[in-house]
Amino acid sequence: MKHNTKIAVIGSGTMGNGIAHVLAQANFDTLLVDINKNQLIKAMEVIEKNLERQIKKNIIFIKDKDNILRNIKTSDNMDDCKEIDLVIEAIPEKYELKVSLFKKLDNICKSSTIFASNTSSISISNLGNQTNRPDKMIGMHFMNPVPIMKLVEIINTIHTSNLTTNKIVDITKKINKIPIQCNDYPGFVSNRILMPMINEAIFCLEQNVAKKEAIDEIMKLGMSHPMGPLQLADFIGLDVCLDIMEVLWIGFNDSKYRPCTLLKTMVSSGLLGKKTGRGFYSYD
Ligand code: NAI
Repeated sequence: MKHNTKIAVIGSGTMGNGIAHVLAQANFDTLLVDINKNQLIKAMEVIEKNLERQIKKNIIFIKDKDNILRNIKTSDNMDDCKEIDLVIEAIPEKYELKVSLFKKLDNICKSSTIFASNTSSISISNLGNQTNRPDKMIGMHFMNPVPIMKLVEIINTIHTSNLTTNKIVDITKKINKIPIQCNDYPGFVSNRILMPMINEAIFCLEQNVAKKEAIDEIMKLGMSHPMGPLQLADFIGLDVCLDIMEVLWIGFNDSKYRPCTLLKTMVSSGLLGKKTGRGFYSYD
């Protein structure tokens, strides 16, 4: 049965197409919006490929695929968000971009529409205060890859109303994810703990404490992590890791969050990890 809540996902990249996928799979009418028409075509192809993978793994039936795809409409026009009840923003991790998007949506959407951001580290309070609805602003931090990872970190600000939080917790459960709440603070919980660990692994490499493979193996075998920190950094994107370390460093004004010089050098050399074919490791 279809749910009443109409949801728009803004940004159809890595995270946006995954979020649209899980919403549509849970029978929500989903509008996927991007400024780039080609990206929307690519996103629908990725969703279709991932649905086929789920069929092979017996997670969904063949007959479900078309219904799920039908639940997703695409648009490159923000005005199509007029009737939307919940917006989930997944555009690049750039403060100015997100502020200007939410200001625009504030004028387009109904006054009851909830605004959620999938930001990894940008202050939700700050984004909310740029709109006329700080009580309806919340963080919905999905993990990558979205169709597989169970957690959604729900980030409340001082102004987020209980009504907003309850609604988002309810929707998160309906899409078969586990909502865990925290308060708005730099890096929230996930990245405040994860990124300094990755940064420290890069310091170990820079100081030649061990070879990259050894650092990763020690953390995999010793701590039962599924992936070593350097391999994980490549997977996340070294530019993203650097952006988040900078948010922590500026946010806490504490030198323990200073980004490692090797990380900065790799980012300025264009070695961003898996997405550019080279980071700590090489990828075909
Ligand atoms: P991405 O670069 O893959 O996709 C961003 C998309 O937004 C692109 O398709 C782009 O065309 C579109 N876009 C840019 N400006 C726009 C605008 N004004 N209006 C509509 N669409 C616009 O980015 P990705 O990796 O999906 O990240 C999105 C957000 O999710 C970021 O805030 C990031 O920090 C966060 N995030 C990323 C994770 C990851 O592992 N990649 C994990 C968790 C959160």
